[in-house]
Amino acid sequence: MSKNVNIDWKNLGFSYIKTDYRYISYWKDGNWDDGSLTDDNKLNISVASTALHYGQQCFEGLKAYRTKSGKIQLFRANENAKRLNSSLRRLLMPEIPVDKFIDACKDVVKANEHFVPPYGSGGTLYIRPLVIGIGDNIGVKPASEYIFTVFCMPVGAYFKDGMTPCNFTITDYDRAAPLGTGAYKVGGNYAASLVPHKLAAERGFTDCIYLDPSTHKYIEEVGAANFFGITKNNEFITPKSASILPSITKYSLMYIAEKYLGMTVYEKQVPVDNLDQFVEAGACGTAAVITPIGGIEYNGNLHVFYSETEVGPVTKELYRILCGIQFGDIEAPDGWIFEVNI
Ligand code: PLP
Ligand code: COI
Repeated sequence: MSKNVNIDWKNLGFSYIKTDYRYISYWKDGNWDDGSLTDDNKLNISVASTALHYGQQCFEGLKAYRTKSGKIQLFRANENAKRLNSSLRRLLMPEIPVDKFIDACKDVVKANEHFVPPYGSGGTLYIRPLVIGIGDNIGVKPASEYIFTVFCMPVGAYFKDGMTPCNFTITDYDRAAPLGTGAYKVGGNYAASLVPHKLAAERGFTDCIYLDPSTHKYIEEVGAANFFGITKNNEFITPKSASILPSITKYSLMYIAEKYLGMTVYEKQVPVDNLDQFVEAGACGTAAVITPIGGIEYNGNLHVFYSETEVGPVTKELYRILCGIQFGDIEAPDGWIFEVNI
C-alpha cells in the first residue's frame, strides 16, 4: 500500500468515511464529458435540481476486494453498470456507457488504494456510483443537465457481525408500488423504507421484510437485500416479482447453488404463510453479503428457520464460495472479476 491511513480494519462498520478522491462527470447538450477525479466531497448544485425535489436520481453499490497476493478486484461491475442504465431509463436520465462506468470505478479505487482493507480483515472498499438531475427547474420534468459521480469508503458488515443470524419482522408498509420503481435502485424506495425500518429496529429486529405490494401474500425484500430460502430437498428458492431489485449477489448465489453445490434453483413466489418449506433462509446483497435469517416474525409468531444462533450448513457453503470468488481464493466464473491495475 502506497500510503498509511489510520483505520482499525477489523472493526469497520457500514459508515461514511471520507476518502481522498471521487470521480465526477457532467452531462450537457446530449453528451457526458470525460470526467475527472476530485478531492472535494461536496456538490455545488442549483437549489432547483430535479434530484432534490422530484427524486430524479439513482445509484449503485459494489465493492473492491483485496486478494491474498495484494491485488485489488471488482466483482461483476458490468452488471452494476447495466442495472444503473436500467434505473436511468426508468427515470428518463441519460445512460452511461458500461466502459465509462467501469473505468470510473477503477479510477476511484486506484486513487484510494490505501483505503482498500487488507486481505483477511473482513473489510472491503464499498463503491457508490450515483447519477443526479441538476440545473434550474421547477416543473415536474426531466433535468437538462446531470452529474455522474463515484465515491468510496472502507466498510465492514452491514447487518450485525456479518455471518451472525438476525431476526426480521414482516412490515405492513410497502417500499414500492406494483408497477412503480421497486426494481430500480432509486432513492425514493429507500426513503419509503425509513419508517418501517425504524419501527422494526425499535422492536429489536435487525430490519423488516416487505411483502408484495398487490396482495401482501408473498415475500419480496429483506430491508436492502434480497431473500433466499433452502429446502430440505436441496432447493434454493428466491422470490420472483416485478417490484424486487434484481440483486447481483442473488443471481451469483443462484449460479453457485446450481453449479457448485448441485442444488435445484427456483425464482418463484414465496408465500409468507409457507415458511415451513425452508430449513435455512438468508438475506443477500452487496452490503449484506449473506446474512443468515434466524427467524421471521409474522402475525405475532417468530418462525425460526435453522437456529437463532447457529448458521446452517448450506448458507455457510454459499458464503464460503461467494467470498472465495470475491476475494480471489476460488477461481471465478468467466467475466465475474475486473482487476484494478495498481
Ligand atoms: N435489494 C435492495 C432493495 C437493495 O438495496 C440491494 C442492494 O443493492 C439488494 C437488494 C442487493 O442487490 P445487490 O446484490 O446487487 O447488491
Ligand atoms: C448495497 O448492498 O449495495 C446497497 O445498496 C444496500 C444499502 C446500503 C442501500
